[in-house]
Amino acid sequence: MEGVALFNILVLVALQIPGALTLTLNMISVPPHQTNGTDNAELKCEFDMEGESLYSVKWYKDDHEFYRFVPNEHPQLQVFDVNGIHVDRHRSSREKVVLRNLTLDSAGTYKCEVSAEAPNFRTKSGKQDMVVVVIPSKAEIVGARPKYQVGDVVNVTCYSYGSKPAASLTWKVNDQEVTPIFETFGDHHGVQRTNYQRDGGGSGGGGGGYRDGGYWKTDSGVRRMPSEMKSSSSHLQLQAELREYQPRVEPDGLETSILGLIFKVKPHHLGELKLECRSSIGSVYWQSFQEKIPVAPREQPARSGNWWRSANASSRLDTGGVRFWIFALFASLATFHSRCL
Ligand SMILES: *[C@@H]1O[C@H](CO)[C@@H](O)[C@H](O)[C@H]1NC(C)=O
Ligand SMILES: *[C@@H]1O[C@H](CO)[C@@H](O)[C@H](O)[C@H]1NC(C)=O
Ligand SMILES: *[C@@H]1O[C@H](CO)[C@@H](O)[C@H](O)[C@H]1NC(C)=O
Ligand SMILES: *[C@@H]1O[C@H](CO)[C@@H](O)[C@H](O)[C@H]1NC(C)=O
Repeated sequence: MEGVALFNILVLVALQIPGALTLTLNMISVPPHQTNGTDNAELKCEFDMEGESLYSVKWYKDDHEFYRFVPNEHPQLQVFDVNGIHVDRHRSSREKVVLRNLTLDSAGTYKCEVSAEAPNFRTKSGKQDMVVVVIPSKAEIVGARPKYQVGDVVNVTCYSYGSKPAASLTWKVNDQEVTPIFETFGDHHGVQRTNYQRDGGGSGGGGGGYRDGGYWKTDSGVRRMPSEMKSSSSHLQLQAELREYQPRVEPDGLETSILGLIFKVKPHHLGELKLECRSSIGSVYWQSFQEKIPVAPREQPARSGNWWRSANASSRLDTGGVRFWIFALFASLATFHSRCL
């Protein structure tokens, strides 16, 4: 192979010319996500001097130098004051810096810069961001009743208090995620929906239900789910409204996330309703909390068609009323009878 031969020649040439060797920065490693209060965050900068000697390793946060390691100076290690940076000197060295007690101020862009000695003074650097997260102090579901009957309206709100950034919230009802419709259109369900319309059948599964679903987004941030539908697999899509709110900024600058859920209890919820709210911040944090609430059948209202079954109801009907209903019954029977003859 011509290419390989050429490559070998180039490598040989390079090996024979000392000036062609350079200091290389192999890797910079900064933990991308940390939580407030984290101790012992390790920043690493791995380099290869390729025969040159090291002059210095410097670390910067947002272009402010906070760490300098110079092997030929005394002391070798110097630390400079930068907001949010507490260096553990004893455990930091040439290729590693250990930070303690991270705070929100520790977030930023970290840069490692390695310089070679004279005569070349070659310098290589690499950067990486670190995000510091404050996890929510508390989360809860508000507004759930101790029990529901079929037909009741469930109106609950999930709160996740005091985090940075604001946590994202999602709702699940009996293990089924309640999704805002426009997100559903946006990803894989959108494809299913197309299939559904072409096939004209239920093969699209849950996606098919969105065909006729009206939805809107109002000023208060209400998104409406599509109408309930039964696909061929008799999978029930919950009809629900998600109420989204802007995160509330607390006096200490932390944020509270709020997501409301409103839906009507359906016969298939009979027995138990499981409401689950999940709160998460990127890949750093997630927490899920749930409430299990008993669901009873609708109690029959004690009136009209069922009056003869309810002792309560019939005792409250005055006798005139009873007589009227009995009269009406016979009258209609008589009419029916005479029409048949
Ligand atoms: C961050 O953590 C420190 C120590 O754990 C704590 O004192 C401080 O209140 C926390 N800050 C926030 C904003 O949660
Ligand atoms: C870091 O936290 C430790 C205990 O967790 C504490 O003793 C120390 O004073 C803190 N250091 C700084 C610089 O906040
Ligand atoms: C849900 O509850 C909130 C307050 O708890 C109330 O403001 C809102 O009107 C309720 N919505 C419905 C549809 O019941
Ligand atoms: C029966 O009637 C009484 C008094 O009117 C009422 O307090 C009670 O709830 C009723 N019971 C039923 C099952 O409707």
